[in-house]
Amino acid sequence: MSDRTHQSTLTATEDEELDTIDWTFPAADTQYLTHGLHTYPARMIPQIPDALLNHFLDHSEIEEGDTVYDPFSGSGTTAVEARLHGLNAKANDINPFACMLTKAKAIPIERPTLDAAYRDLRSDLKLELRKLTETYESDEEIEIDLPAVRDGWFPEPQLQHLAHIRDEISALEENYSEEVVRFFRVVLSKVTRRTSYQRNGEFKRYRMAPEDREDHDPDVYALFTDKVEENISLMGSYSDRVDSDLDTDVYYADSRKAEDIGDNSVDIVITSPPYGDHGTTVAYGQFSQDPAIVADRREYDEMRNVDKEGLGGSASELADLDDLEDRSPSLAETIEVLDEKDGRAQDALDFFTDYYAVMEQVVRVTKPGQPVAWVVANRTMSRVNIPTHLITYELCLDIGYEHEATLPREIPQKTLPWENAPENTPGVKGDLMANENIVVVRAPE
Ligand SMILES: C[S@@+](CC[C@H](N)C(=O)[O-])C[C@H]1O[C@@H](n2cnc3c(N)ncnc32)[C@H](O)[C@@H]1O
Repeated sequence: MSDRTHQSTLTATEDEELDTIDWTFPAADTQYLTHGLHTYPARMIPQIPDALLNHFLDHSEIEEGDTVYDPFSGSGTTAVEARLHGLNAKANDINPFACMLTKAKAIPIERPTLDAAYRDLRSDLKLELRKLTETYESDEEIEIDLPAVRDGWFPEPQLQHLAHIRDEISALEENYSEEVVRFFRVVLSKVTRRTSYQRNGEFKRYRMAPEDREDHDPDVYALFTDKVEENISLMGSYSDRVDSDLDTDVYYADSRKAEDIGDNSVDIVITSPPYGDHGTTVAYGQFSQDPAIVADRREYDEMRNVDKEGLGGSASELADLDDLEDRSPSLAETIEVLDEKDGRAQDALDFFTDYYAVMEQVVRVTKPGQPVAWVVANRTMSRVNIPTHLITYELCLDIGYEHEATLPREIPQKTLPWENAPENTPGVKGDLMANENIVVVRAPE
């Protein structure tokens, strides 16, 4: 296929109505309802699944009670929107912390239940934390099981305060459901990040400068209670709007295998895959490490492995596909350029081999002819732009999907997940990604 034919096939859309939407959604509120419970790197804006679900519902391609699948759930944006549209959701993520966020955001809890649990949790909390501070200041030993976070990342006695709140949340298990307990863990997770010496606005682990650390004296009680109250209000409004009988099934699982998702079991897929391997793009594991260790009692080693196990990571078990480049002319061209530059051709191949495995699993689990939307951004490697939207399109065609639309959108600069692409070296700035594409295809008939 010549370049020109190739490009025109790509931009041709079978669905003109999808083309009329401004997918950038400038100035949209992306934190409404439970989307605002907790941050996550490279979050998809909820307006994308919202508009796609409205479109396919309006055209009776899906109907209420159907199932939406997201193989890269992250913080659960698709799962939340599924429930807001009367749909069930299935979600996978290789990061246990992402699974916790997905459940916490998508499964509704009624406000009176949260109010009651909060009353129980808060009853003596202020006093207990004050006592902890006094004990700490008097140099007496504090009997508390401190989380296994790295030395030098938290001020004290704030770390003791976090550990105490964690234990009080666990005590709720006696009288409340796991959903309620998880709700408070998510608040504690947010407070953990704010309490630590983590530099604001960075998803990677960067510590504040030493002089800033000296001034960092957060009030854990105030941070926690403020965030609980904000989250109760968001969850209360969400739970008033959605059907509590719908299902949200979240699996801490690898989407290259998708073992928990049955054949032909989903009616639509909406997903935003990682931009590349976690190590050199967005380190979801690094972002999640402390919050997951403190609030969700996860092990340090488990969290350290998340970035190796993600798509294109060093722990991938998939063998190279010898002919992958034959399946996508754009991938072949990219690999050639990376080879010439003595760049990272093998890393790119590893990533797309893994990505292809997910695409094949998505075919297996999706009912024939049903829509699948890949929200992809183009990253750079060795200063070479990787045309992930073209590669996605070509690999999908190779597998037998039919192309429906490729919808460009701009990413507001401020929400870019990292500043120092592509080398990932602090201080070295590269070309920033500034656009994304939503590649909409249909599962093979
Ligand atoms: C771009 S983020 C998804 C963000 C999500 N749409 C949201 O709005 O929060 C990509 C996610 O893919 C997950 N991931 C990477 N490799 C995976 C794999 N092999 N199986 C399942 N999830 C994986 C990462 O942990 C990360 O949470």
